[in-house]
Amino acid sequence: MESKHVLTTTAVIGTDINQATQALEQGKLVALPTETVYGLAANGLDATAVAGVFAAKNRPAFNPLILHTNNFSRFAEWGLELPETMLALAKVFSPGPLTYVVPQTSNLIPDLVTAGTHAVAIRVPKHPLTLKLLAKLPFPVAAPSANKSGYVSPTTAAHVAQQMGAEVAYILDGGACEVGVESTIVSFLNNQVELLRYGGVSVEAIEAVVGKIKLPQQGFVDNPVAPGQLAKHYATKIPLVHGQVETRLKMYNPNEVGILSFTKTYLDVPAQQQLVLSPTGNLVEAAQKLFAAMRTLDEMNIAIILAEVFPNEGLGRAINDRLHRASIHA
Ligand code: TXA
Ligand code: MG
Repeated sequence: MESKHVLTTTAVIGTDINQATQALEQGKLVALPTETVYGLAANGLDATAVAGVFAAKNRPAFNPLILHTNNFSRFAEWGLELPETMLALAKVFSPGPLTYVVPQTSNLIPDLVTAGTHAVAIRVPKHPLTLKLLAKLPFPVAAPSANKSGYVSPTTAAHVAQQMGAEVAYILDGGACEVGVESTIVSFLNNQVELLRYGGVSVEAIEAVVGKIKLPQQGFVDNPVAPGQLAKHYATKIPLVHGQVETRLKMYNPNEVGILSFTKTYLDVPAQQQLVLSPTGNLVEAAQKLFAAMRTLDEMNIAIILAEVFPNEGLGRAINDRLHRASIHA
């Protein structure tokens, strides 16, 4: 918290895949760009390396990690059998921002990765640099978002350096993330397709391929199968409130308010404290800018962040989910 304005990085930032490969092969941590957010990667078959990820993030060990590689066919190399329904969906959406939770059928994957759940989350991310790197590695990488546990996920190499610079051997710089929110997570356990986290692929797009899927009962995911989804998450240091911006605005000195809005601006709040995510009303653009905007507001001299509720469709559901979790009422 106190390191707000201090750049603590000692890490090397660059685009050298060989250096990243070498570090990962030595069991070190490397930050990687993906189309969603930057990941904090380690050899996913090496329990000691994976333990390093948990330590670097202060992540509770009961929260499992996603394994990433460049092609789903490679999971057979590591003893994992993939369900047909999952492969059908992957044909349409991978590489891309969709993560699949499948039964853990391999004895090569450390329990730390799955948090002992007998299920494993897998993903093929869509970023050219990272796909090249993953293709060179003889193992999948376990990679959560490259932020301290509970904070906003990083969408640039600089975000990673600010928070995790001291923990990683190398930061592979792939520019700003295109999607900006984490992958959607679907589970293929119990012979049904169930949404565990809203994210970069919309529910509408998934249902267009496989028909109706099981959605969380409340508006927001609160599923014990994905323990990381229960805790307060994505939180800014400055308190954030989600919804009823007009009403809440009356409760604060407008000079001490930061606004996170979809298209509009509000009277009386200084212009530079109002971050409009997409003046043209494009939810894809809004998702792309969300986390950087939260970080920007978090560095301002303000007392409260008021965030709008976005349209609850397409990527708007992922945006609302993240803002809800970040909110002091979550
Ligand atoms: O877009 C993304 O998914 C990014 C990039 C780096 O790939 N990764 C990411 O990882 O968001 P992380 O660790 O921040 O979030 C992964 C979520 C956690 O909430 C975790 O609980 C859930 O996936 N998860 C992982 N393995 C699981 C499993 N076996 N069963 C259920 N949930 C699982
Ligand atoms: Mg995360």
